[in-house]
This record gives sequence, structure tokens and C-alpha cells, in this order.
Amino acid sequence: MAIRQIRVLGDEILTKRSKEVKEVTDKVKVLIDDMLDTMYDARGVGLAAPQVGILKRIVVIDVSEEADDPIILINPEILETSGEQTGPEGCLSVPGKVGIVTRPDHVKVKAYNENMEEVTYEGDELLARAFMHEIEHLDGVMYVSHVEGKLHDADEYYAEEGE
Ligand code: NI
Repeated sequence: MAIRQIRVLGDEILTKRSKEVKEVTDKVKVLIDDMLDTMYDARGVGLAAPQVGILKRIVVIDVSEEADDPIILINPEILETSGEQTGPEGCLSVPGKVGIVTRPDHVKVKAYNENMEEVTYEGDELLARAFMHEIEHLDGVMYVSHVEGKLHDADEYYAEEGE
């Protein structure tokens, strides 16, 4: 397990489409472990493989309070979305920034887990937002392209919000 370098906005790899994973090799298992380490180290709630420079369709997410309930999505697909939420969103590849983005409030996804078993998840609120945000990374889309208004400095934004 190791912490990998997180690519930041402006790095071309973040604009590329990631490739389907055909087989969970030992190398892929190490990548997933490293992505979890990297996400937790950076105190993020999600990370997509292209953010560590690997163009594979793999996402890790953990929105739990204790950061002990990871979701691993290989080749994820969004099956359904409904509702709407508008709120602050950030990205480990855009450090220190936050922007207001409207997303579905309920999202159902299908994917494969690290044993290549099909799994489905449904999420509301932050988890729904994380599914949309992270899966978009696999198609080279960054949340900044959806931001309403300007990007805010995260410290200032949350200080003003009183959080
Ligand atoms: Ni992101």
C-alpha cells in the first residue's frame, strides 16, 4: 500500500477517457489499495484512477463519518438518477477550491467489485454527488465545467457558511 501523487487540474490525463478493466490482476489490486490510501490520506470522499495517472475505469468512494466504509467501483455505470441537489463540491485534483454544482439527489449505479462480481449501489445526497463526480472523471470530465458562478477558496467559503 502506498500513497500516490494526485494529478491536478491542467494535467492532460484528467481530460482523457479511461479504459474498461477486463481483469483484476495483482497490479489492479495494488492500484485499488493505493487509491484508498491516497484518498484517506488526502481526506477526500472519492478518488478516480485517472487522478493518480492511471486511465482505468476504477473509482473509490467513502462518505462515511469514520472513513471506514469504502465503496470500490470497477467499470461503473449510472443506471438511474432522480431529484436534484445544489451545493458545494470539491475535488482532490483542484486543491483548496469549492464550487456550487447541481447534481441528482438520488443515483443508482452498477459496477464490479474487486472480485469482478457485479454490484449495485444506491446513494442519496453526498453519496449521489460522489457517484456522479467520480464516474465523470473516467470520461475526462471535471466538476469545474459544471460550476455555477465562480470557484471559491474553500477555507473562505466554509468560514462564511459557518461550518
Ligand atoms: Ni474529483
